[in-house]
Amino acid sequence: MTNTVIVGLQWGDEGKGKIVDYICPNYDAVVRYQGGSNAGHTVNVGGIKYIFHLIPSGLLRMKKLFIGPGVVVDPIVLKEEVEKAKMMTQKLDLTVDLRATVVTPLHRWLDGYLEEIRGSSAVGTTRRGIGPAYAERALRIAPTVSDVLMKGREIFDISSKLFKWEGEVDEWLKTAKEVFSSFAGDVGLKLQEIMDRGGSLLFEGAQGSLLDVIYGTYPYVTAVHTLASYACIGAGIPLGSIDEVIGVMKAYQTRVGKGPFPTEVEDEIGNVIRERGGEYGATTGRPRRVGWLDLVSVRYTTRLNNARKIALTKVDVLGGLRSVKIAVAYKIDGREVEHFPADIELLSRVEPVYEEIEPLPKLDKGEWARICKSGWSSLPREVKRFVEFIEGKVKAEICIVSVGEERGLTVERS
Ligand code: GDP
Ligand code: IMO
Ligand code: MG
Repeated sequence: MTNTVIVGLQWGDEGKGKIVDYICPNYDAVVRYQGGSNAGHTVNVGGIKYIFHLIPSGLLRMKKLFIGPGVVVDPIVLKEEVEKAKMMTQKLDLTVDLRATVVTPLHRWLDGYLEEIRGSSAVGTTRRGIGPAYAERALRIAPTVSDVLMKGREIFDISSKLFKWEGEVDEWLKTAKEVFSSFAGDVGLKLQEIMDRGGSLLFEGAQGSLLDVIYGTYPYVTAVHTLASYACIGAGIPLGSIDEVIGVMKAYQTRVGKGPFPTEVEDEIGNVIRERGGEYGATTGRPRRVGWLDLVSVRYTTRLNNARKIALTKVDVLGGLRSVKIAVAYKIDGREVEHFPADIELLSRVEPVYEEIEPLPKLDKGEWARICKSGWSSLPREVKRFVEFIEGKVKAEICIVSVGEERGLTVERS
C-alpha cells in the first residue's frame, strides 16, 4: 500500500493530468482534494485529447474516482463532465463529498465583478467562482453538497442579501440536486475503507505550489492551499496517511494570469516555446506567459511539499533551441541569494542568475517513442545531463521524464 500525492511545483499546468494518468494503474483510486473547475488537466491517449476540470484524471484507466471535501464543486461543470465521461467509459465510479463547498452562479458573478473592481490590479482569475466559493465557506454562508440536497432556495438568503445579487436559482438548484444525488457520499470514509483493505490512493493536486494562497506569490494566487500537505484535510484522511509526494515540473516555467515572474522571457524565444509547447490555458484558452526554468522557486516548492521525487515534463519542447538557460539564484540589490523571497515586492525586482546548459537534441515523435520504449538508459546524453543538473540543484530525484503529450511518450527511471 502506497499513498502518493501528485503536486505541481510551479504555477500550474506542469502536466499533472498526464502524470496522474501514467502512474495511476498502480493505484486503486484517484482523489481530487482542492481547487475546482479552475483546473484543466490534459490526458492524451491515441491522439485524442481529454481535458478534466473536476473529474480526476484517472477516468480513462477506470479507477475509483473521488472529489474530496476540500474541493469547490460547480454542479453545472460537473454535469457536463459526467455526460462526456459516460460517452468515454461504461464505468464511471465517482463519489463527491457531502461536505464539499458548492460553487453557485453568485460565486461566478462575484468572481468577475471583483476582477472588474480591482481594475489594473486584477489577479487574472479563471472567473470560475473559486475565490468567492472559498470566501463564502470562511464566512460560513456557502452551501455544501449536503445543503443542496436537503434544502431549497433559502441557501441563497444570506449571500444574496450580502452581495445584493438577484440571479436566477430555481433551474440551477434543480440541476444541482440532480447531479449531486447520483454521486454524493462520504469520501473520507470510503478512502479509509480502501486503505484498511490495503489499497493505494493517488491524490491529484490542482494548480501549482506557487499559486498556494499563503505560500504562493500572494495576492496573485488561487484561493486555497495547493501544497501536498493539504491532501489530508482536503480528502478527509488522517494525518500521516501520505507515503510519498511526486512533484511535477516543466522543463521551463509558465504562468497564466498576473503576478511576478522572475525568469519570464518576452522575446522571440518566448514565442517559440509558447507555440511549440502549446502553452494556451486548458480552461480559459489564454496564452500562458513563458520563461526559463527557475530552480530557486522549485527548490522552495520541493522543500515545502517534501517532494523527494520529480516528474520532469515537456523536455521535447526545448529540443533544438540554441541556448537553454536555468535560473540557479537571484540577485537582489546586487546581492546573490538562493532563497525564494517571502516579499512579493522584492520578488518583482529580483534578477535571475542563469547557468546555460548544453542544448537538447531536437527529435521527432518517432525518435522519442523509440527512446521511451527502450527505457531510461537510452535517453540522449544531453537529457541525462539536464536531469543531473536539476538533481544537483534541488534535493529530489527525477523519476519520470516526459517528452510528448501522449501517454506513451514517457520514460520512467528503472
Ligand atoms: P496540468 O494542469 O498540470 O494537468 O497541465 P495542462 O494539461 O493544463 O497543461 C499541460 C499541457 O502540456 C497539456 O496540453 C499536455 O497535453 C501537454 N504535455 C504534458 N506533458 C508533455 C510533454 O512532455 N511534452 C509536450 N510537448 N507536451 C506535454
Ligand atoms: P491546473 O490545475 C494555471 C491561476 C489563474 C489566476 C490565479 C487565480 O490546470 O494547473 P482562480 O480562478 O483560481 O481564482 O485564479 O490562479 N490558476 C491556474 N493557473 N493552472 C491552473 O490549474 C490554475 N488554476 C488557477 O490563472 O492567475
Ligand atoms: Mg492545467
